[in-house]
Amino acid sequence: MTTTDLAIETRGLVKVFGAHRAVDGIDLAVPAGTVYGVLGPNGAGKTTAVKMLATLLRPDGGEARVFGKDVVRDADAVRARISLTGQYASVDEDLTGIENLVLLARLLGHAKAAARARADRLLEAFGLTEAAGRQVKKYSGGMRRRIDIAASILNTPDLLFLDEPTTGLDPRSRNQVWDIVRAVVAQGTTVMLTTQYLDEADQLASRIAVIDHGKVIAEGTKGELKASVGAGSVHLRLRDAERRPEAELLLTRALDAVVQLDADPVALTATVTAHGSEQGAAERAARALAELARAGITVDNFSLGQPTLDEVFLALTDKPLDTAKKTTETTETTEGAAA
Ligand SMILES: Nc1ncnc2c1ncn2[C@@H]1O[C@H](COP(=O)(O)OP(=O)(O)OP(=O)(O)O)[C@@H](O)[C@H]1O
Ligand SMILES: [Mg+2]
Repeated sequence: MTTTDLAIETRGLVKVFGAHRAVDGIDLAVPAGTVYGVLGPNGAGKTTAVKMLATLLRPDGGEARVFGKDVVRDADAVRARISLTGQYASVDEDLTGIENLVLLARLLGHAKAAARARADRLLEAFGLTEAAGRQVKKYSGGMRRRIDIAASILNTPDLLFLDEPTTGLDPRSRNQVWDIVRAVVAQGTTVMLTTQYLDEADQLASRIAVIDHGKVIAEGTKGELKASVGAGSVHLRLRDAERRPEAELLLTRALDAVVQLDADPVALTATVTAHGSEQGAAERAARALAELARAGITVDNFSLGQPTLDEVFLALTDKPLDTAKKTTETTETTEGAAA
């Protein structure tokens, strides 16, 4: 891939707050025209990394380029092509939805009528027409997030940073934001999306960087990440319910995993991880099937699902996402003091 195909390229990017390396040597290559997911728990360094890429924070080490332009030396050229929807949004709370969008469009250089037309179109696309005349401080969290994103795409940016766009939203509002992201990408914009939600990265991103404690601990397409973990869920349905206890024993041994008995009397489920084994999930599943056949246990239905990104995170960090959150939160006391 040549540099021009890359929307973002970083090498050894570092940001230090006091003694704390919030971003600790990050290398990224984000292909243009895609959604790139940056996944990590609280305090991992996501916002700090995004702020450096968006020229809002000066790196303490390494380098970063956006569409080939250095974020420090060519900051103006970078700014001309990007837009940012921050974790803590920037629209004016006292203005109405329409006032905010028209004001921002005017600031971007649109004439009055064009600004109004653009604002109306976005409000409609984001389901905010009815709320257009209401002050933003009276919006719900989901409406607020939508107006933030609308504000950041008044001019279609080449690169849009969305920093945790759906944190705290209900499932319906999350889906609306996801649809908006898909629509933005369909128009050719590259999106860098930070999230703590594995399913969000799974839904939207074509490549994902998993970061923890300021470092990239894994990077790749969703498929690559999942395959690298070698985990997966095995589901089986037997012909004969009476053989299930026997099958359970056999599977537990062959898969080296905890086997669950489903409510359905012929069904069994097991989550196979790569822990403590050289073999991948597929290989072990195949061996387990062979052993069932040898024992004369008929399997009517078998599936090996991909692991969830939750399982991927667990395998990479050796701790579930919740524990990871708790561990990093202890370092976060510095944030309030410095802010
Ligand atoms: N201005 C600052 N001064 C001091 N420390 C900071 C500052 N900004 C961030 N940090 C610290 O840097 C680390 C990374 O913070 P950052 O906000 O980048 O994390 P994050 O991945 O965005 O987390 P979250 O999911 O909670 O938004 C944290 O430990 C945080 O306390
Ligand atoms: Mg953040």
